[in-house]
Amino acid sequence: MPYQDLRAFLMRLEKEGEVHRIEPEVDLKYEVGAVCRLALDRGGVEKNKALYFSRPKGHSHPIVVNLLATLKRFCLALECDAENVHREWLRRTQKPIEPRIVKDAPCKEVVNVGRDVNLFKLPIPLWNERDGGPYITFPCHISKDPETGARNAGMYRAMVHDERTLGILAAPYRHIRHHFDKAHAQGKPLPVAIAVGLDPVIYAAAIAPFPFGTDEFAMAGALRGAPVEMVACETIPVEVPAAAEVVIEGEIPPGVTRDEGPFGEFTGYYGDRGPRPVIQIKAITHRKDFIFQESYEGLPHHETCIVSGVSNEAEVIRQCPLPGIKSVHFTSGGGGYLHAVVSVKKAYDGYGKMVGLSVLGTTAGRTVKIVTVVDDDIDPHDLGQVDWAVTTRVRADRDVEIIKDLSANVLDPTMTSAEKRSASRTDKIVIDATKPMLEPLQPECRPNPGVMREVLENRAKYGF
Ligand SMILES: Cc1cc2nc3c(=O)[nH]c(=O)nc-3n(C[C@H](O)[C@H](O)[C@H](O)COP(=O)(O)O)c2cc1C
Repeated sequence: MPYQDLRAFLMRLEKEGEVHRIEPEVDLKYEVGAVCRLALDRGGVEKNKALYFSRPKGHSHPIVVNLLATLKRFCLALECDAENVHREWLRRTQKPIEPRIVKDAPCKEVVNVGRDVNLFKLPIPLWNERDGGPYITFPCHISKDPETGARNAGMYRAMVHDERTLGILAAPYRHIRHHFDKAHAQGKPLPVAIAVGLDPVIYAAAIAPFPFGTDEFAMAGALRGAPVEMVACETIPVEVPAAAEVVIEGEIPPGVTRDEGPFGEFTGYYGDRGPRPVIQIKAITHRKDFIFQESYEGLPHHETCIVSGVSNEAEVIRQCPLPGIKSVHFTSGGGGYLHAVVSVKKAYDGYGKMVGLSVLGTTAGRTVKIVTVVDDDIDPHDLGQVDWAVTTRVRADRDVEIIKDLSANVLDPTMTSAEKRSASRTDKIVIDATKPMLEPLQPECRPNPGVMREVLENRAKYGF
């Protein structure tokens, strides 16, 4: 049974003991961020809890944060086992299910238009110490291609400039950017809606690196096994998920920028301040008792490592044409974007590099900085094993390639400000950490197999 909305998913998480409720009043200025940091540091990659802040200071609506920050919760969202998550993703998304347009919608219980619009009425935190303003960190942006009408959903964190203006950073390869570039070339603003507080698979689809032109709502339908219900916006020709908690409607005007940032990014470093596009807000609609959904960004581990990581992994598996790929993992240290580890059944010497290059050629590979290719005896999720493979199977002169001048993740902290603002390109590394075949390494050491088997069978004798 698909989740109807954020609330249905929250109930499931509560039932599974996955939600930590914070009842005392918590200040939106830095305190929410600090509590999130504490929770992520204590729980780590696997055991952190989703957070429910009942009383953000000065607001009567709660905030939920980090709902998809573990693989377990991501799999609860997809209703599948962790071992099958990629298989299920690929199986379900083969058959997109078109959204269904409805007339009545919970997200219209309260409608504020024009001068009644005030972003400061929403509980939006100031997360990290140097952030340039409060940030909406889990917004699903929806826009339409001005030429074809094709719909796009994507996530681009948004800074509050004032009551009716948001600022966004959309990397050159982001699809909303293609949309506003096309609209602006016609001298027109791009209508854009931002939905907050959704069935989690809608978020998963919006964040996934599907190719340009894919309707993420049809993919969300495929992932949930039923159409997403959508309703027309009040002031712009865009449809939004009817069951959203909050919807912000606006336009990106041509030729208008304002300084946006800094922001504590998913890399663990601050992104810089600079002139970026704005969204001028025309309406905010919401449920009467809305819940505001957010995500803590900053030093890994955080939600992006999972929610971006898993869909990046699945799309690499789908888009790499080479046989023998066993498993793919986007590491938490790389924030789910920067470091891909791929295990392969190696076909011949040189194959590891071929696989590495083909990963860089996928839509997920666009933002990857390092690809490490390992043999299929190595589990890419076990960084100890990966480290062993890299240190013992790699010879730098033979197995490491630097590929020059590819499209870069705009938030890569090693790029200079000028590089980020201009071409946004960088060099990437492919590490072939597979064993050489023509001149094999010495045998790996293991105890005598027969004796090992006996020891395992009699482990109690040794106190294990
Ligand atoms: C929490 C979160 C925040 C994100 N913020 C941004 C952002 O500000 N700018 C950006 O270009 N990508 C951002 N991304 C990545 C994109 O949302 C993601 O890659 C998605 O595929 C973009 O959709 P598109 O391919 O349709 O453009 C973010 C991802 C997550 C999980």
